[in-house]
Amino acid sequence: MSGKYSQRNQEGRHRIAEEDPLAIRLLKEEHHIFRQLFDRAEAAEDAALSKIGAELCMRLAVHMTIEEEILYPALKPILGDDEINEGIVEHASGKSLAAEIEQLDGTETLYRAKIHVLGEETVHHIDEEDEDMFAEAAEAHGEGKIDLDELGEQLRARQAELYDQIEKTGELGKTSEAQAEEIEKV
Ligand SMILES: [Fe+2]
Ligand SMILES: [Fe+2]
Repeated sequence: MSGKYSQRNQEGRHRIAEEDPLAIRLLKEEHHIFRQLFDRAEAAEDAALSKIGAELCMRLAVHMTIEEEILYPALKPILGDDEINEGIVEHASGKSLAAEIEQLDGTETLYRAKIHVLGEETVHHIDEEDEDMFAEAAEAHGEGKIDLDELGEQLRARQAELYDQIEKTGELGKTSEAQAEEIEKV
């Protein structure tokens, strides 16, 4: 479906380009899914909303984990600390709201507002990744400073492993992404 967020999927640097290296294609594909799910959430009846909320929280957790474990450390020497650290702090804020949402069943007064705010914050974050971080990373890839196709293979493998883990146990298991209390050490 097309709503206010998913319209962006075809605009400018949000669009998946033929020449995008694998890492960027894979992450942009997920950004597209997030925009579509947040649009569906905006339009959903109460009964359908909690299912969409649960799917969003699960997918966002996997996405943020692979970015923090694999993408961000690889880009840090190229893009500098500030941009990566801002990404980590935005993730931390998203994780904390997602953790609140996961404790709810969807009938609560603030449930819809929490999903809405998670959407606004997430879309802001993924817009910045597409427009700034990924664009700079793609340039570095073009200059041979980093191999984002090889990195994409790593992201894909870790993503599959995490989804597998969720299917088996219902949980993400052990991850090495930045923890909120460790942010200052990153
Ligand atoms: Fe991110
Ligand atoms: Fe992302």
